[in-house]
Amino acid sequence: MYDLPHLDLPPLNSAAGTVRLPGSKSISNRVLLLAGLAAGTTAVHDLLASDDTRVMLDALRALGCTLERDGAVLRVTGLGGRLAVHEARLFLGNAGTAMRPLAAALAVLAATQGGRFELSGVPRMHERPIGDLVAALRPLGCTVDDLGNPGYPPLRLSGQAGGRLATELPIRVRGDVSSQFLTALLLALPLVADERDIVIEVDGELISTPYIEITLNLLARFGIAVRREGWQRFTIPRGSRYASPGAIHVEGDASSASYFVALGALAAQGDDVVRIEGVGLDSIQGDIRFVDAAQAMGAQVYGGPGWLEVKRGRWPLAGIHLDCKQIPDAAMTLAVMALYADGPTRLTGIASWRVKETDRIAAMAAELRKVGAAVVEGPDFIEVSPPLQWQPGVIHTYDDHRMAMCLSLAAFNPLAGGNCPVRILDPKCVAKTFPDYFEAFFGLVGAADGAVPVITVDGPTASGKGTLAAALAAALGWQLLDSGALYRATGLAAQWDGVAPDDEAAVARLAAALELRFGQGSEAGRVWLRGREVTDDLRLEATGALASRVASLPAVRQALHALQLAFRRAPGLVADGRDMGTVIFPGAPLKVFLTASAAERAARRHKQLMAKGIPANMIDLRADLEARDARDTSRATAPLKPAEDARLLDNSALGIEESVQQVLAWWQQSGPFGSPP
Ligand code: DC
Repeated sequence: MYDLPHLDLPPLNSAAGTVRLPGSKSISNRVLLLAGLAAGTTAVHDLLASDDTRVMLDALRALGCTLERDGAVLRVTGLGGRLAVHEARLFLGNAGTAMRPLAAALAVLAATQGGRFELSGVPRMHERPIGDLVAALRPLGCTVDDLGNPGYPPLRLSGQAGGRLATELPIRVRGDVSSQFLTALLLALPLVADERDIVIEVDGELISTPYIEITLNLLARFGIAVRREGWQRFTIPRGSRYASPGAIHVEGDASSASYFVALGALAAQGDDVVRIEGVGLDSIQGDIRFVDAAQAMGAQVYGGPGWLEVKRGRWPLAGIHLDCKQIPDAAMTLAVMALYADGPTRLTGIASWRVKETDRIAAMAAELRKVGAAVVEGPDFIEVSPPLQWQPGVIHTYDDHRMAMCLSLAAFNPLAGGNCPVRILDPKCVAKTFPDYFEAFFGLVGAADGAVPVITVDGPTASGKGTLAAALAAALGWQLLDSGALYRATGLAAQWDGVAPDDEAAVARLAAALELRFGQGSEAGRVWLRGREVTDDLRLEATGALASRVASLPAVRQALHALQLAFRRAPGLVADGRDMGTVIFPGAPLKVFLTASAAERAARRHKQLMAKGIPANMIDLRADLEARDARDTSRATAPLKPAEDARLLDNSALGIEESVQQVLAWWQQSGPFGSPP
């Protein structure tokens, strides 16, 4: 996950490859609540791991459910409809899918079994309405106290054991603000349906009916067969009781799929295709209907059970007019696809956007305008006309995961005449539903040669290049190229194969066929050569000396050239070595040349070795360093020297943090978003 103040997306122009989607948020939290209320143990497969599911899991644990992880499976042992804990304070973040159903379930349980529960969330959660649900619960006999503004969380739900609920008459609930109120009642009322049928009637037009279908579908999996008449009247049959299905699989998130469908529609051309796994045309999620809307705009979509494949069809996309009541979340993605259309796109029926994680109509209008679009907004619609002139946008995300994911699509502006980077503020807000969204995104996208920024860090042995480069890459969320490791691995391969380090042709052949793998994620920093881990072997002084020898052979340098260029991938690259700025990335927008006195470098290397328990002698070390510097600087091909436009950084007296800050400051000044923050 990108835990950075902002993430800069370079101008992008292609997309291809496969993405496996995380589990659906809507299904995950419903399944968790049902499993938590049911008797017995439910093995939940492919549960979404995100902020919204974490608060639900915390709540279930606090209520006395047993949760056991078993690899990718979570086993939930439920309460069997009986409260195990009668008092709790539950913090539910900004998860509407936790707040609404838990409020209903705990109101009903407290009213009949006795208890006192307080539900709260982040400040935005306290601005998201829940009054219509409370208004449906109170006439039943539930005690619901507003602890803040009436009609909004936080709430207290309480009652005495032995209380009875007035379920004889139909329970009325509004359906036109959020379908989650009806979902909450449908999930909670089977708890009190022992003696008679319970009828729920919807006032006003029910929005987002696909989400109600998910609710009914999952209730059926847990043994509750709700009868429905149209979208107006729902009956929970007498004697209903949750029964665990034993095991249940959470399908991939169809709303999250929309970003990748859009990627394909925008940028998968020729033989390229974006393949999406985990959700397919058989999905029970309403947002799968986004596919129809994307096709109407021009996408080519193929699919089957559990998969979709998407590529560009019509270009530019067609502007559309669409009522989006059935796909409220995925509709946001259409608003951004509208940037690439041949005319305005008008999305209606989206009043619910105003009560989501943020006021999404206002937020979308403001941010799309920043990249150059003309936007008209109304109480329940948005109309987007594509930019005449693209601008680099600094995108606010309003702590709304979908704003961040949607606006990442604006980086494809080179496909529509732009050449602008997009800065996404607070990118980690995607953790609400898709913590690794940007990693997945960067895994698929491509940029024009030269569009991906590179910072080069060159310098002599033991100048601290490696440490500085790794810290910069982490701070920026960029790729890292430790080019020295390529020469070291080549030296090692020569040693393994008994090839003399000055046999230019033979060593170059080894270099061209290096089977080298750099660890990612939890394996970052580790390296494998021909399947064998060489992390420690690569750092040996002897390997360094060997590397310096093979690095002086022009054919070896040539053989490693293309491999090094391939590290230049979005969102950016920090490359360290000797000739990064002079030979490999001569057009890099920021080049740093590190220096430090030989005495200082020898002292640092000495400290490193001693820390590892390797005996070393300062005088010998210094002599080795100087010999290696002499060889690296005096060789004919790509000698060690600063590029003409390099910034010199003498870090003899600087700590690593100061060096990092200095380079980041240079980058901020020279980068596309201009002056220092
Ligand atoms: O940075 P390092 O110590 O891991 O590099 C090992 C050797 O590889 C170094 O002596 C010079 C050579 N090298 C090179 O010639 N060009 C590079 N870009 C990186 C390293």
